[in-house]
Amino acid sequence: MRETDAITAMPMRTDRIEWEERLLADEGLLRHIADKIKGPFHVIYPDQVVENIRAFQKVFANSEVKGRIYYGKKANKSACVVAACAEAGVGIDVASVDELTTAEAGGIRGPDLMVTGPHKSDELLTRAAKAGALIAVDSLGELARLSELSRRADSNAPARIVMRVLPPNSCSRFGMTAEELDAALPRAEAMLVRLEGFSFHLGGYEAAPRAELARALVERCLDAREAGHPADTISIGGGFSVNYVGAAAWNAFSRSVNAHWFQGGRIPRGESYPYHCPAPGPEMLKNILSHSNLGNILREKHIRLAIEPGRALLDRAGSTVFRVQGRKTRVAHGLPYDILTVDGTSFSLSEQWFDSEYLPDPVLWPERAGAETPTCVGGASCLESDMLSWRRIPLPRAAEVDDLLVYPNTAGYQMDSNESRFHGLPIPPKIVLRDKKDGRQFTWAREKDPHEPEICQHCSSTHPALHPS
Ligand SMILES: Cc1ncc(COP(=O)(O)O)c(C=O)c1O
Repeated sequence: MRETDAITAMPMRTDRIEWEERLLADEGLLRHIADKIKGPFHVIYPDQVVENIRAFQKVFANSEVKGRIYYGKKANKSACVVAACAEAGVGIDVASVDELTTAEAGGIRGPDLMVTGPHKSDELLTRAAKAGALIAVDSLGELARLSELSRRADSNAPARIVMRVLPPNSCSRFGMTAEELDAALPRAEAMLVRLEGFSFHLGGYEAAPRAELARALVERCLDAREAGHPADTISIGGGFSVNYVGAAAWNAFSRSVNAHWFQGGRIPRGESYPYHCPAPGPEMLKNILSHSNLGNILREKHIRLAIEPGRALLDRAGSTVFRVQGRKTRVAHGLPYDILTVDGTSFSLSEQWFDSEYLPDPVLWPERAGAETPTCVGGASCLESDMLSWRRIPLPRAAEVDDLLVYPNTAGYQMDSNESRFHGLPIPPKIVLRDKKDGRQFTWAREKDPHEPEICQHCSSTHPALHPS
């Protein structure tokens, strides 16, 4: 045991998959991109998204249950993820007018959109109904409003809906109670809507409660059919887990975690994501279908299972790269450790803003041997709490200015959920990596951010209108 072990967190290294290994082993590419971008950046490898989708599709195909996949768009805003969904033939789950617009612009057809979210705006409901999207109705009030909006829009096609269910024993603010659902059914008959089924989203990452609730909703579908509705879809939302690290690392970390590992003793108080999962993503879908005989019942009753995975479709599809801007050596409990400042902020690692800690260890690049150094990582802002890693990570050597820190597996929720132009710092761009024909090297391109104002060619400001072109 080394002396510094007392103040150093257990390692949480991830196994690398092929494209990540290739990127980290490439001697020039990361440095070349970092020099061009001159700030932090996210890399995304959309072929991995397609591969993840295919794995879910295969589970549906093997089980012979009709399935429908909608990517939960909130998990990552990148246009290349939308394009990957279009390429793989899946739909998108959106919750705002902007998400709906960007999904359609990326090649997703209206009927392949699922629209979720509570008490949606009139604009979103109208656009969704017009596009022929499937709308998850959250309340009786919303149901009445949607029908009225469709009537006013003189729509001759009824709006396609599922009714969102408040799970039993849940105090969620989403969905309708059993009594509200009972009341909704006869009302829907008189309205300009087509009831295609029921939906829910559960917290946590367990297969069994999803299967059990889906199974209970089969009865609701059959009742709705008797009342003349098609009711052939049950949507079980997202929450398909991701396996970030191996069981041994996760168990050792969870067993021993203590305040001595963290900068300022700040042990995270929020609930931690379960970073190890023995049956992630598609395996979890398989388990849902086999639990409570769900798959057989869905087949027998001709009911389609819709899923809305966000994180699981982005598993291993991206990393986030920061440049080390400075280093301090400090002492905790009589032992030395390093605090790095990188050229971005923890807004690009959103887990840090949920009183939790993003646990997969970053790779210190270039990779070379040295003396293991306990290191925590701070952002370039004036906020004390702007820490990318509160824990002291056992980096394999002391980091130096201009080294890169590559945080792995960040495409699902980490990259852009919380980013802002704090201090006027630019939002880190997304760098899209694709294979060259040789299958070994990458081409890369900076994705245009549709939300960023154009930079003026004359003065590099964001006010091009002030200059003659
Ligand atoms: C209705 C709904 N669908 C899908 C998702 C996506 O969940 P995940 O990214 O964990 O798969 C969420 C997440 O909150 C949700 O609320």
